[in-house]
Amino acid sequence: MKSSLKVGLAGLGTVGASVVRLLERRRDELAAACGRPIEVVAVCARDRNKDRGIDLSTMRWYDDPAELARDEEIDVFVELIGGEDDPAAASVRAALSGRRAVVTANKALLAKHGTELARLAEANAVSLSFEAAVAGGIPVVKTMREALLANRIGRVYGILNGTCNYILTRMEAEGLDFATCLREAQRLGYAEADPTFDIDGFDSAHKLAILTSLAFGTEVDGEAVYVEGIRSIEPADLQAADELGFRIKLLGVALQAGDGIECRVHPTMVPKASAIARIDGVLNAVAIDGDALGEIILVGPGAGGDATASAVIADLADVARGDLVPPMGRAAHRLKPFPRARMRRHAGSYYIRLSVADRPGAFAAIAGRMAEKGISLESIVQRRRAPGQSDAGDASEGSVKPVFLVTHDTTEEAVREALAAIAADSVIASEPQVIRIERLDDTTPSARREN
Ligand code: HSE
Repeated sequence: MKSSLKVGLAGLGTVGASVVRLLERRRDELAAACGRPIEVVAVCARDRNKDRGIDLSTMRWYDDPAELARDEEIDVFVELIGGEDDPAAASVRAALSGRRAVVTANKALLAKHGTELARLAEANAVSLSFEAAVAGGIPVVKTMREALLANRIGRVYGILNGTCNYILTRMEAEGLDFATCLREAQRLGYAEADPTFDIDGFDSAHKLAILTSLAFGTEVDGEAVYVEGIRSIEPADLQAADELGFRIKLLGVALQAGDGIECRVHPTMVPKASAIARIDGVLNAVAIDGDALGEIILVGPGAGGDATASAVIADLADVARGDLVPPMGRAAHRLKPFPRARMRRHAGSYYIRLSVADRPGAFAAIAGRMAEKGISLESIVQRRRAPGQSDAGDASEGSVKPVFLVTHDTTEEAVREALAAIAADSVIASEPQVIRIERLDDTTPSARREN
């Protein structure tokens, strides 16, 4: 058997500790599968004395991850520090420049520096692997980078954040508000103490930026992702969605549009009958639409120590076997500049909830502004009160009433302009709620393309 693959591991949080444990637990099977053992020889973390329930006595300790990345004895540097810049970026650059393979779970780093790091890996003829960076344990990177090579990808979309999916699932199932469900997610350890990255959509956006590059052969451009989070979703929206035959998911969607690639993360109404609508709780799911294969959906845990460690170790196994696959699936110097489609040109149908002053003409003014922008309405419903609101909460004459609209296909620009005109007419009492509808029907990009 060949000599062992020597691993330097930076970051000993939940995932790092799971990697150490899982490598130990599967030691013999991994050695048999890879033709050589995989062995952690050096580690780096913030606190040397913390009890992590793992034996570090045989491993060299570093306080500085960049120093670990330069350790002459290691073959591969595993970066589980997190964060888009230093020290993660500096240590990954140090490892690649020193011709050491890198395995990372750091989506923020890749969304910002992915193209540069892929080029650095290529220039040094070493691998840069990141299966754990997208959808945790789900093997979506390998699937897109290797298994779907014969396909042209028309669209990739998915539920890329378990925290948001958990919150939306509980809000819908129990009629609870966002703040209550966020507190529950934090209590159960799903959401961070500072949950901004998850609930405002940035975590999903980082993952989508990576998937977009893999799907379309473009440079990784985290800045090109249009992002909305789930803070504004109210029980009224979930109930209206239910009545309309939809469920609301925080979806990341990247697709080839007329004027470029649309890359967006936002709450989305999806048909109840679609597979993605049935992904509940902390699960993630990624749907990939290839012209040869059609649509496939991968579902599984997008976070958690062992699930994420499973993906890290799959990448380590590739390094142990000597597999050298371009990080983004094609030569890094051939990645195309990102052709960003303008969000205002997005075409689709929309759900809109307005708080409308209950007086003569208000309804007509809204319908008129929509018509002026060429927006055809599929339905418009005024309620006595918001769904879920009791009679006691229903103010009398002259009060504000919820109005729910669903449009036929239109453009983002038309919707924005119509809503600006409606606001200027002073017939609405608060910011409109706008949720894009993704019908996910058989007019999928691959179905529309000619073979
Ligand atoms: N915080 C993420 C989630 C997992 O809730 O899915 C790590 O990206």
